[in-house]
Amino acid sequence: MSALILDGKAVAAKIKMQIRQEVEKLKTEGITPGLAVILVGEDPASQIYVRNKERNCQELGFNSQTYRLPATISQDELLMLIQELNEDPKIHGILVQLPLPAHISTEKIISLIKPEKDVDGFHPVNLGNLLRGEIGMLPCTPAGIMELIKESGVEVAGKECVIVGRSNIVGKPLFHLLLQAHGTVTVCHSRTQNLAEATRRADILVVATGQAGLVNGEMVKPGAVVIDVGMNRLESGLVGDVDFDSVLPVAGAITPVPGGVGPMTIALLMQNTLKAALMQRG
Ligand code: GUN
Repeated sequence: MSALILDGKAVAAKIKMQIRQEVEKLKTEGITPGLAVILVGEDPASQIYVRNKERNCQELGFNSQTYRLPATISQDELLMLIQELNEDPKIHGILVQLPLPAHISTEKIISLIKPEKDVDGFHPVNLGNLLRGEIGMLPCTPAGIMELIKESGVEVAGKECVIVGRSNIVGKPLFHLLLQAHGTVTVCHSRTQNLAEATRRADILVVATGQAGLVNGEMVKPGAVVIDVGMNRLESGLVGDVDFDSVLPVAGAITPVPGGVGPMTIALLMQNTLKAALMQRG
């Protein structure tokens, strides 16, 4: 038996169709959701992500402003730009593409964004709300993963959930979302002693490490839902952190790369920007 393939592109398209309808309604009130994206430096992967965000803003009728800044920009200059955008009524969401150059403090930059404009959900206030289970802006990739798990038809409550990777962007916030959904959650990382033993326990397995093909079919419980967050650009093309071919016959459901988690992250970013525009309307 082959796993159900969780088509992130199709789910994202459905979410975006709903957003487009909401945007049409908002525009009749004279409001156009506005997203400012700040890209510092020339990281090729970041450039692709930012172009993709611009394209999605255009498709959905959002106002999009992209700031492409040199890697030499000072932290103070960047802080000043964020202060300006915080006060700009046409901008409802501010996203600073990560990673930033080493001379700039990511914490300082993210903390200056107004929490209601923090469409990445990385501000300490939004992370605090997430930890307490209160309403706030949710980080896009973890929120998109929860939607894909829903799509698999598997109920999280009471399940063994294993996350491989403990980043601030994916692993840590996803831990809280799965816990809120009543999963029993284990987070594995580079110092985990016996990774395969942990992953084989998982009814729901999420892999977000940036290591191509780290998880193979022998490390997966038969019937498990496997979510691959990896985006590794190899000479052979774009591959995930999961060895798709060996996991496909074992898993119950699996996300492809590309076309799985990636499109969901963008759709949830657009949803957060719409939510920010609605919240700021009052
Ligand atoms: N770099 C990699 N993923 C992300 C993300 O979700 N948001 C931002 N701002 N930068 C990233």
